[in-house]
Amino acid sequence: MKRHILIAFALIVSLLGVKGQSILSPDKKITLTFALSTDGEPTYTVVKNGEVIIEESRLGLLLKGQPSLDKGFVIANSETNSKDETWSPVWGEESSIRDQHNELKVNLVQPGERSRILQITFRVFNDGIGFRYEIPEQANLRSFIVSDELTTFNLPFDPMTFWIPGDFNSNEYVYNHTRLSAIDANVGKVENGIGAKTLIGGDYIQSPVMMKSDAGLYLSIFEAALYNYPAMHLMVDRKQLSLKATLAPDAVGNKAYLIAPITLPWRTVIFSDKATDILASRIILNLNEPNKIANTEWIKPMKMIGIWWEMHVGLKSWNYSNVNQINLKSTDWTKMPPNGTHGATTENTKKYIDFAAENGIDGVLVEGWNIGWEDWAGNWKEDVFDFITPYPDFNVKEITDYARSKGVKMIMHHETSASATNYERYADTAFRFMKHFGYPAVKTGYVGYIIPRGEQHDGQWMINHYQRILEKAAGYKIMIDAHEPVRPTGQYRTWPNLMACEAARGNEFNAWSTGNPPNHETVLAFTRLLGGPMDYTPGIFKIKRSYYQPSQTEQLHSTLVKQLALYVTMYSPMVMAADLPENYRQRMDAFQFIKDVKTDWEKTLYLEAEPGEYITTARKAKNSNEWFIGAITGENARETKLTLSFLPAGSTMVATIYADAKDADWKTNPEAYTIQSYRVDSKTQLKLKMAAGGGAAISIRPIESEKDKKLKKL
Ligand code: NOJ
Ligand code: CA
Repeated sequence: MKRHILIAFALIVSLLGVKGQSILSPDKKITLTFALSTDGEPTYTVVKNGEVIIEESRLGLLLKGQPSLDKGFVIANSETNSKDETWSPVWGEESSIRDQHNELKVNLVQPGERSRILQITFRVFNDGIGFRYEIPEQANLRSFIVSDELTTFNLPFDPMTFWIPGDFNSNEYVYNHTRLSAIDANVGKVENGIGAKTLIGGDYIQSPVMMKSDAGLYLSIFEAALYNYPAMHLMVDRKQLSLKATLAPDAVGNKAYLIAPITLPWRTVIFSDKATDILASRIILNLNEPNKIANTEWIKPMKMIGIWWEMHVGLKSWNYSNVNQINLKSTDWTKMPPNGTHGATTENTKKYIDFAAENGIDGVLVEGWNIGWEDWAGNWKEDVFDFITPYPDFNVKEITDYARSKGVKMIMHHETSASATNYERYADTAFRFMKHFGYPAVKTGYVGYIIPRGEQHDGQWMINHYQRILEKAAGYKIMIDAHEPVRPTGQYRTWPNLMACEAARGNEFNAWSTGNPPNHETVLAFTRLLGGPMDYTPGIFKIKRSYYQPSQTEQLHSTLVKQLALYVTMYSPMVMAADLPENYRQRMDAFQFIKDVKTDWEKTLYLEAEPGEYITTARKAKNSNEWFIGAITGENARETKLTLSFLPAGSTMVATIYADAKDADWKTNPEAYTIQSYRVDSKTQLKLKMAAGGGAAISIRPIESEKDKKLKKL
């Protein structure tokens, strides 16, 4: 590790009196200038190669009931550091990550009798910047309440913007694509199928937000390392072309309760004239602290199948009985009349275990196994689930013994129905229950309005709740996949048992709503995925819902092959093969790709990308010589040519190409595909043809047999 503190002025390229100073990126192309206005208001400006990226923009915090940290500052002193080190994540898109940045820490003081100190730390990377507020220990500021954050991002252009409406309780929206000046977040009102919706208003959108200027600059505004503070939403000023931080209030209208010394989450701006640089940026991870879990042997990336999609498409139910209005404490579950459609039965689970064992799938998730699903959503009940009592037809011991005998792991499901207080009461008991039966991972869920009532998914109380659960789970050596939590901001570097989150509109919307448009996954990569893996649940082979219900006209807006490609373009170390085993059994040739694809990578190359249009990603597996390529396209059919120059020079390998059939189309012919194998090497030019809403998936492995040697050379 190389870390050295340079003498304070070594990196300061322009010293603007005592009112400001600048810092350069390591490649010297980006300049971030900190300055105080004449009123002593902190501001920053970002310039790259002489082009303004962020115009002078305000910084500061408003406090409740006491003088704010917004103006009247002088610079007491400042310090610069620089860092260039490489670290290894426990799992991820690559086995080593470089953190190269220059840092400027400004110490601001509001002079006077009740003088206060605010520090702002800026880090400038070659692909963007991050900054955060730090409130050091001091005599005149100890406990305080943040009533507003003034952080603003003033843009010098009116970019085309991918955005979802600001909502303190949900991110499960379709992305809109408009000019910044044309944003109207009221469109969120018509979205269906969202469990808890709290639109902030027409001017508010969520971070991360992805933009592109007419000059071709790609720019993302987001945050990193969100702890003990609300998530950052953004208020749009359509005239000024600016975005201002907006924080979810708590039940009494306050934003955050803090005690100095404290550091706040990083605010980030990632930018480049190459879209692929945004995907390859590791700023968010680099701004998170190193891993805090000493022994990580128990943290294992995995693939899973589950008793899940069959409920979403309406074949089976989570609930065991159709009686509603259940009382967790007094209902006698043994006397409940079964409805005959319960999915989580011992028998059904064993079928999934068999399929997993036969196909090298690591785990089986079972939803609806525990009592309470008769009356779980909508009534805002505090006591819905106890997370330990199975329905009469789900024999936990028999199932876990069976799974163990087959070498398959069981994945626990804890739907909290957003009753976080209830979950906290039961968490130790629930985790001990998991350990007793050998469940290594849990999928949590927060559907509905939060209890404590008045709190919100993105508010400080809930941010602390998710973290308490994550750390408690780490204490029990349990991995987490959280649904409906706040969107992640790179915490998995520090807490690598946070395997995945949903926190966006997942594939499940394709099972029961108007679904996700064909470009959805190309936008997710530039937005939600910047903070960490998503449990998107790819791998649906039966694309049309009429397969299950003849009257249904909706379907996935995707070809079958695109569902394969998503295993490469959307990284997650805990990933589902979401369709039913019987559907896979009909197409084991295509399922082979899901069997083969890996969940932990040594290297990732973003070969080409355009948000809303297409992404092509190549990844090399950890500890193996296998490569996988995923290519997806949105509304438009697409042809592309790749040179496999990343393959080891001089060695011939076998590439198996899963392609949309010639006449495939997400709408009219989504399930048609071809599979062909060829010999390839680092000089091979690979032509890919994708249907509208389609993709291509390719596995590349060393030659293993005489048969391989006889394959045609591409
Ligand atoms: C919403 C989750 O996203 C989904 O995956 C789950 O099946 C349901 N809630 C029930 O918990
Ligand atoms: Ca969800």
